[in-house]
Amino acid sequence: MKNSKISIRHSKLSDLAEIQRMFVDTISAICKVDYSPEQIKVWTSSIENTQRWIDKLSSQYFLIAELDNKIVGFASLGNNDYLDFLYVHKDYQRQGIADRLYNDIEAEAIRKESKVLTSDVSITAKAFFEKKGFRTIQKQTKIIKNIEIVNYKMVKKLLQ
Ligand SMILES: CC(C)(COP(=O)(O)OP(=O)(O)OC[C@H]1O[C@@H](n2cnc3c(N)ncnc32)[C@H](O)[C@@H]1OP(=O)(O)O)[C@@H](O)C(=O)NCCC(=O)NCCS
Repeated sequence: MKNSKISIRHSKLSDLAEIQRMFVDTISAICKVDYSPEQIKVWTSSIENTQRWIDKLSSQYFLIAELDNKIVGFASLGNNDYLDFLYVHKDYQRQGIADRLYNDIEAEAIRKESKVLTSDVSITAKAFFEKKGFRTIQKQTKIIKNIEIVNYKMVKKLLQ
């Protein structure tokens, strides 16, 4: 069911705490079907590097989906051709929020004349990215704090 009351806006630095809360909640609730508790713990611990998040909020094309002043999704584009974040609130899944955020990110990449869009995609999000026309380049295993985390390097050619 599409939610027409959702609006999209650019992020502000003051959104950081709510973005990080939603990031942890989404991964803990939605990705737990594909990742172990240890993997979830390592993945969500990336919020501890506050400066890295501030840098991303400041330098990336960073969008927020909002409903009644509450953040229900966020997405970001780095370097005009790398989709870095795409997360939707656990209680607002399958309402077309990622679709809207993604379409805006792709449009920005095209405006910036990028030929391809790449991302490192979770097991959980792979089907969404396939639906949006991405193909898998390779399965990759990252080791963070001694824990293996699998994701996929995916790419989409953009029509110019
Ligand atoms: C992946 C994610 C961003 C999708 O967000 P969403 O708002 O629920 O997606 P949408 O409602 O816009 O989905 C659009 C279409 O994508 C496809 N799709 C989305 N999620 C899917 C899933 N889990 N399985 C299969 N297809 C899926 C469907 O075709 C869907 O259309 P439909 O609902 O009419 O069938 C969301 O599930 C999420 O936050 N996942 C956890 C975080 C994560 O792993 N992020 C990616 C890090 S790289």
